[in-house]
Amino acid sequence: MDKLVIKGKTPLKGEVTINGAKNAAVAILPAALLIDGITTIENLPNISDVKLLCEIIENLGAKITWISNNAITIDSRNISCTQAPIELTRKFRASYYLIGALLGRCGEVQVGMPGGCKLGARPIDQHIKGFEALGAKVEVGQGIIKATREKLIGTNIYMDIVSVGATINIMLASVLAEGTTIIDNPAKEPHIVDVANFLNALGADVRGAGTDVIKINGVQKLEGNITYSVVPDQIEAGTFMLAAVASHGDIIIRNCITKHLECITAKILEIGAHAEELDGDTIHVWCNKRPTKANIKTLPYPGFPTDLQPQMGVVLSMANGTSIINESIWESRFQYTDELNKMGAKITSQGKTAIFEGVSTLYGAPVSATDLRAGAALIIAGICADGITEIHNLEHIDRGYENIEEKFRKLGANITRVKEDDPNNHLVDLPE
Ligand code: UD1
Repeated sequence: MDKLVIKGKTPLKGEVTINGAKNAAVAILPAALLIDGITTIENLPNISDVKLLCEIIENLGAKITWISNNAITIDSRNISCTQAPIELTRKFRASYYLIGALLGRCGEVQVGMPGGCKLGARPIDQHIKGFEALGAKVEVGQGIIKATREKLIGTNIYMDIVSVGATINIMLASVLAEGTTIIDNPAKEPHIVDVANFLNALGADVRGAGTDVIKINGVQKLEGNITYSVVPDQIEAGTFMLAAVASHGDIIIRNCITKHLECITAKILEIGAHAEELDGDTIHVWCNKRPTKANIKTLPYPGFPTDLQPQMGVVLSMANGTSIINESIWESRFQYTDELNKMGAKITSQGKTAIFEGVSTLYGAPVSATDLRAGAALIIAGICADGITEIHNLEHIDRGYENIEEKFRKLGANITRVKEDDPNNHLVDLPE
């Protein structure tokens, strides 16, 4: 097991390039199973969730070839199995996209109940409601989901809750259905649009992704032999934007889509820091004074993303004044505040609300990444803190960020990954 050791109080400075979006990639890989052919996926983040998904897909009979650090081909001509390895699928959330894809392609599928970050109850009733409305039979029991169909027939599906996963899963299941499927009240996140673009590049007819209604006209067959580049990661870009603000730094962030970052930019300006779009795919963020307090409510896109709430929490923990964050998506997303309090923050949370009484300094401490984005937030906190921070449970962070410590190191952070049992692991070389 590894841990990160950070010597803090470093204002981050320099340039960083954003990878492809995790949450788009983990849907596009299963989507590639819808075709009887070969697809090339570029700008793929090289993260553990993607590697795990590749392993599961190979178990189903597809062949994956890494052609560079961030590109693969998927040959899905020979899908020989529709039962995904239960233990592997339980390890993360996005394994549920195999249900929509394999229902469409093969008519039957079995996966383990999806896992993922422990952010509260994560029901999949909206996914099941969608599959059943299209004509599938879904059985859930003993930690396994099994879905079968004679045929899928397009229909109108109203989503009771705005769900990223259910919206994508219903799109995957309906592209090869007979007739037209309408999804009312879908999620509108950038990765929804990206998955729709990928499906359309394969010959699907998906319209309206990113708006309040998605219309999918079923087609008989999808074609392969395309090359597709995954959209840049909104959350990774936002993480570095907030790291620039928290550390009173100055960062140029490249390969992002600035339109997707407007909700973060607006908050950065509100608290007295600076964000300037240099062109459509580059943003410059800097901060030269202590940010002021602000209130945040997380919302589905285009609202403030729940996946940036912990990173924003770090900024507000050191802001001038008292801030309130209302987390409207997940029940248990304030676990990181206990860790920040170990570093001297003054945060009280109850249910979906947390109150941040801003302190002028955080202090280094041993802390634990309770989930993926909490881990990113603790890295930012460690970079800002006075003294040495040790972050444990890195497996959460590695699920979603490629080379995170390398990227922060290039921005000037004094951050090292060491083995937990290394006797010298508390010693950090300070770059001059
Ligand atoms: C995805 C993201 C996750 C992000 C979340 C919200 C991936 C792999 N993960 O998760 O990082 O935090 O979107 O932006 O893309 N819900 C139901 N029934 C359902 C489905 C969801 O009640 O069938 C509820 C959830 O409990 C939650 C809300 O809807 O309160 C949003 O969940 P959803 O958008 O589905 O999140 P995920 O797709 O799991």
